[in-house]
Amino acid sequence: MTPIRIPFNRPSFVGKEREYLEASLAAGQLSGGGAFSQQCSKLLESRLGCNRALLTTSCTDALEMCGLLLNLGPEDEFVVPSFTFTSTANALALRGARPIFADVRPDTLNIDERHLESLFTPRTRAVIAVHYAGVACAMDEICKAARERGIRVIEDNAHGIFGRYKGRLLGTIGALATLSFHETKSVSCGEGGALMVNDPALVERAEIILEKGTNRRQFFRGQADKYTWVELGSSFVLADLLASILLAQLEAEVEICNKREAIWLKYQNSLATWSAIHDVRQPTIPSGCDSSYHLYHLILPSEGSRDRLLEHLRSLGILAVFHYQALNASPMGQRLGGRIGQCPVSEDASRRLVRLPMYFSLSGEEQGQVIDAVMRFDRF
Ligand SMILES: Cc1ncc(COP(=O)(O)O)c(C=O)c1O
Repeated sequence: MTPIRIPFNRPSFVGKEREYLEASLAAGQLSGGGAFSQQCSKLLESRLGCNRALLTTSCTDALEMCGLLLNLGPEDEFVVPSFTFTSTANALALRGARPIFADVRPDTLNIDERHLESLFTPRTRAVIAVHYAGVACAMDEICKAARERGIRVIEDNAHGIFGRYKGRLLGTIGALATLSFHETKSVSCGEGGALMVNDPALVERAEIILEKGTNRRQFFRGQADKYTWVELGSSFVLADLLASILLAQLEAEVEICNKREAIWLKYQNSLATWSAIHDVRQPTIPSGCDSSYHLYHLILPSEGSRDRLLEHLRSLGILAVFHYQALNASPMGQRLGGRIGQCPVSEDASRRLVRLPMYFSLSGEEQGQVIDAVMRFDRF
């Protein structure tokens, strides 16, 4: 088999990662809550404008914190897009709440806001907006529908750090929002995440849940005279060692965002004619949305042509990949009430979508080779 020359993702160092990592080792605090973690939280809070940004071990964990914070239980339902990563649904289903799968919009692959009214029931407690590829969901409509029924909005912003919706930064619109700093994400520390608490009424409990159900943070701020178990929580804190890498990446926001935008635009422009000729759908960014340019995807005319394109690129040493399998049709999704055929747009995207290599250190030369290889594909 041809060795991979151009991987789908390559962890990229963009600034002071090594320097800060050394400093973290030298400082001798490797566990969470240290100087680097505090700087990352402050930077996220001031740059994004949320009440509190709590660093977590992953976006999955930040989502699990949402389930605990909203006291979800077996009597409750939450509406979740079918086209998303398992964690978006799994994290709240862990509390016993039932996921109600919503289909996605054909243009953005974001939750289709037009379906919400029919999916909300008196049991619905939360709706999760996943900003797929870093392009905002229709937040005005989602928030309005949710507000009318007292339903909380959670933004799963694993893809969308620094993206905007009508000028507002993604992750600052819902009561709660989550970020991912996994190796594949635009800003990364290997494995990591954050919970952004926008609703001030949730801040204190969020800190407790983060710290294994204890009031440790309040105690260290002198707000409690002893530190003890005060409610259910878990071990969600990111190690300071990882926060040192994260800080270097967060500080390089402008460089990272500019590079990703340039890569995305080059794919979009270079593949426009080829896509139009072969009935391949390119991504769209609705007006009012500023993308974070997290990923670049194409929708091929059929599942067969999608699979053949992946094989073709693989034979040239280029790793392109598919994305989510529709959750409603997954084995676990079906055990929780999902049905095959329930979310046709999502199921179709699962079959036909391809993601092309996209990462900070992708060179112009490498991207040129990917574009060239895609345009040579003709087995539709
Ligand atoms: C939309 C979405 N949410 C959540 C996650 C989980 O992120 P993490 O790996 O940080 O737990 C992912 C992972 O890719 C994702 O795509």
